[in-house]
Amino acid sequence: MVALQATPLKTLGFSRRRAAAAARPRPMASFRCSASARSYNITLLPGKQYDEPLSPSTTGVELRFQEKLMGGSALDATGVPLPEETLAAARDSDAVLLGAIGGYKWDNNEKHLKPETGLLQLRAGLGVFANLRPAAVLPQLVDASTLKREVAEGVDIMVVRELTGGIYFGKPRGFGTNDKGEDTGFNTEIYSVPEIDRIARVAIEVARKRRGKLCSVDKANVLEASMLWRKRVTALASEFPDIELSHMYVDNAAMQLIRNPKQFDTIVTNNIFGDILSDEASMITGSIGMLPSASVGESGPGLFEPIHGSAPDIAGQDKANPLATILSAAMLLRYGLGEENAAKRIEAAVIETLNHGFRTGDIYSPGTTLVGCKRMGEEVLKTVESQKAVAAVN
Ligand SMILES: NC(=O)c1ccc[n+]([C@@H]2O[C@H](COP(=O)([O-])OP(=O)(O)OC[C@H]3O[C@@H](n4cnc5c(N)ncnc54)[C@H](O)[C@@H]3O)[C@@H](O)[C@H]2O)c1
Repeated sequence: MVALQATPLKTLGFSRRRAAAAARPRPMASFRCSASARSYNITLLPGKQYDEPLSPSTTGVELRFQEKLMGGSALDATGVPLPEETLAAARDSDAVLLGAIGGYKWDNNEKHLKPETGLLQLRAGLGVFANLRPAAVLPQLVDASTLKREVAEGVDIMVVRELTGGIYFGKPRGFGTNDKGEDTGFNTEIYSVPEIDRIARVAIEVARKRRGKLCSVDKANVLEASMLWRKRVTALASEFPDIELSHMYVDNAAMQLIRNPKQFDTIVTNNIFGDILSDEASMITGSIGMLPSASVGESGPGLFEPIHGSAPDIAGQDKANPLATILSAAMLLRYGLGEENAAKRIEAAVIETLNHGFRTGDIYSPGTTLVGCKRMGEEVLKTVESQKAVAAVN
């Protein structure tokens, strides 16, 4: 299954969010599906404007959407990649669903005016330090994997990536000159004990709900930050006898993910290693276009987004696979709102759509039906609607 195993991260405030939603007065303009619907505010950051309004609906759950500018569209409209208004709206909502940012148009912008800077600001602004990235090979898509069937079949990995620390944020950073007068660029890989402890706790909790195996990936043979990382993960995991902890250097982990990915259950790692390894893991599953992610913090709304970027090479051609974004919405329902049943329904609709044989180009194989992004989305929606009709009859 692509789906994350249900992990009630109560320590991260999810159940509180659901209780608050149940008590909140319902908004006027919203999608409302039953008399007892729980109501949530969702901020949508599509990265571009949609031609048509979104109209998702899920029985028992009332979702009110507000769309805000972010990334390239925000740069064009306001001159900054993350307008204050967008961050304020995101903070004020129950969950945030992000499309993808970036594109050739802004590639040569100064760093503070790049769409990517807005994304880092959003993650930091929401305090979402834990990024959960499932990579599982669906039986329907085994042949889309770049690996041999016998290696890919049954792979089910969760990468827990630290998201707001390490070399992407560490200081000092910048450009300088060395003592030979040569230009240099430098960054700092730095982690504090509280930063390591909180991500390790999330990973332990996730692993306990899965198969209990946790592999911590680092470069402790070279990097001091990794030595501290290993020490703290070991100390915390020792409190949980049901956790089987192992450690692996990142270079070996990159190799093992291709050689024998089934050995992994849950992987916990720092920001930069997680960035790279989760993309590598995604290819085992067939396509980056299939993979959702959840980013959560200690409190406040979570950020849910596909792991892929804006795919500028196929932009506007109706070729992109929408399933990673649809599955991100399922993660939003499960991890952001605690709406497990609604999440399951979306995931089941995705599976059923694949069972019907529909494939976008990135996961196409002979004998299946090649469809575009729009059609794939419509087919999933149709399946959700038909589930609803069956549920009503029953
Ligand atoms: N979280 C984000 O918003 C995010 C993440 C990564 C990259 N980016 C940005 O996206 C832009 C492009 O980056 P990139 O090319 O390195 O990564 P990318 O993920 O956009 O594309 C990598 C490759 O995967 C393909 N691909 C991606 N998503 C797909 C989908 N849904 N269906 C089918 N194929 C898909 C693309 O066509 C491309 O060949 C850059 O500006 C980058 O900064 C944004």
